[in-house]
Amino acid sequence: MGRLDGKVAIITGAASGIGRATAVRFAGEGAAIVIADLNAEGGEASVRDCKENGGRAVFQKTNVSLEAEIKAMVARAVKEYGRLDIIYNNAGIGGAVGPLEQITVEDWDRSQAVLLRGVFLGIKHSVAEMRKAGGGSIISTASIAGIRGFNGLHAYCAAKAGVVNLTRSAALEFAKDKIRVNCICPGGINTPILHRNMPGVKEAMEQWMAKGQPIQRAGHPEDIANMALFLASDDSEWVTGQAMVVDGGLTVGSQFLDQTAGGERPQTGIVPQGFMGPSFEK
Ligand SMILES: NC(=O)c1ccc[n+]([C@@H]2O[C@H](COP(=O)([O-])OP(=O)(O)OC[C@H]3O[C@@H](n4cnc5c(N)ncnc54)[C@H](O)[C@@H]3O)[C@@H](O)[C@H]2O)c1
Repeated sequence: MGRLDGKVAIITGAASGIGRATAVRFAGEGAAIVIADLNAEGGEASVRDCKENGGRAVFQKTNVSLEAEIKAMVARAVKEYGRLDIIYNNAGIGGAVGPLEQITVEDWDRSQAVLLRGVFLGIKHSVAEMRKAGGGSIISTASIAGIRGFNGLHAYCAAKAGVVNLTRSAALEFAKDKIRVNCICPGGINTPILHRNMPGVKEAMEQWMAKGQPIQRAGHPEDIANMALFLASDDSEWVTGQAMVVDGGLTVGSQFLDQTAGGERPQTGIVPQGFMGPSFEK
């Protein structure tokens, strides 16, 4: 018997990284999944992975910053599977990076539209269906950047802190409906958002990320999928409004947060300044 038998889940940003690993994990535990992402090719590959893991899944092309597309995503879940029990608001980008004085208002707003508005819309449009189902679990991916500062990641830090506190206020509003609202704060997870599928960079990041945190290995998407499964399942029925940190111990004490620690950082797809859009876009 699976831990999510009979449940229906939407996962945004599920064409890649954390979202894909979570979709596969949920599918293996009996959930039917809507894979929602901008990236159709990656999304269809995730559908195949879910099916190979014994589950049911469909792809719905979705830009999480657009209200009409979020509504269509929720409608697709109900049309395909008849109900909605779980939404994982996970889609993300690096957004505007670099010195604060050089961030344009347009790049700031584009960042918030994906990282914060997308989570707001996902919550807003899923609760009605969850009430009909008798309750549900809303999960979002925040970040350790939502609970501490990272120089040069101003828009990202602000948006993720917004996700953490929106989680708390929404948890208060929807507890009476048996809808739990939680978020996950990952540490460094070796996904395309960091290596952008550049040759050799994933492997270099793996080595480098292992050096600097108390648990000396890089974070993997499955580490977050495991927490998402706990939050999605009835095992967490008395947990709401929480920001669950999954970071190999990074935030409790690590030289890694000092940019000079852990050896020289590998050349990555991360730009020092400008705008970092979806990881599948070159
Ligand atoms: N990898 C890390 O170190 C790390 C750490 C903390 C938090 N996070 C967060 O985890 C989440 C997942 O990121 P990941 O590491 O798996 O990266 P990823 O790039 O592998 O996955 C992100 C997915 O979101 C999709 N996406 C981007 N913009 C979108 C939009 N407007 N609408 C729909 N889909 C969109 C991308 O196409 C991609 O499939 C993000 O919210 C990210 O901010 C990642």
